[in-house]
Amino acid sequence: MTHTLPADLVSYLLVGTSAFLVVHWVRRAILKPAGPSTSDPNANGITSFDRFQRLFHWGTLVALLVTIASGLALYYPAVLEPAAMAVGFPIHTNFQLLVDIHVASVVAFSLLIAAHIAWDVFKVKGSRLVIPRVSDLRQLATRAESFVRGGEIVKSEKYDVFMKSFHILLTISSIVLAVTGITLYFFAPWWFVPQLSHQTFEPWWKPTIMHDFFGFALIVLLVAHMYFALLNVNRPLLRAMIFGNWQERRRRNNHVG
Ligand code: HEM
Repeated sequence: MTHTLPADLVSYLLVGTSAFLVVHWVRRAILKPAGPSTSDPNANGITSFDRFQRLFHWGTLVALLVTIASGLALYYPAVLEPAAMAVGFPIHTNFQLLVDIHVASVVAFSLLIAAHIAWDVFKVKGSRLVIPRVSDLRQLATRAESFVRGGEIVKSEKYDVFMKSFHILLTISSIVLAVTGITLYFFAPWWFVPQLSHQTFEPWWKPTIMHDFFGFALIVLLVAHMYFALLNVNRPLLRAMIFGNWQERRRRNNHVG
């Protein structure tokens, strides 16, 4: 009997998310291609990210990829063992090392988040951009309607209602993962006890199951985030996250040329 999140629940979560993304893609990319509306600030080149924001974004991605890879190996050791053996890294004899890699990448992630808050909240003073407002509910209704009927996507600010929701869910997941992760690491490290005792070793409020659930929630959020980032309609945002203000730079270059 395992004390982790049941694997069939994880499968439902992953299959459900994939199905939603496929439906979204069929609706938006095939049935009714959506173009950015004229009121979309991204279309006018307003969206830009400074050097720190871009460094934070891509640094966070690297830290999270290491966290996710080591986390998956700890969650699915038996399933991933053949693949791990093939690359000369047997999981069962490297459990402690995997835990150390997981913790080190999480520490790097936490430092990045601390720097992110210091920069974006206190220096850039951008909190207004990510805090949801009542008008976001209206925007949600409009966007849902445009999804059903097809048609243009109307956005009003740098971050729309979905981006703000994504940001909040990321924050909630990170906080729950931090609380449960610290508890497991310091007070209930099941990887030090024989498997048969895992159940009895687990605290009553089941931090391992919560950690697994929010870990997979984070994976789902990141996969969905990558899907939306790659959509044509969000190309200016992706370019801005790579180059800063890509359209501004192109305008300047054309002018000089
Ligand atoms: C309490 C926690 C957090 C606060 C107060 C916060 C604050 C902010 C603010 C104010 C912005 C808008 C900056 C702008 O565009 O001018 C922002 C954007 C962003 N946040 Fe957060 N954030 C938090 C947690 C997180 C977490 C956990 C992640 C990632 C896992 C994250 C990733 C991002 C990204 C990628 C952006 C867009 C790029 C950027 O501005 O750096 N944030 N955040």
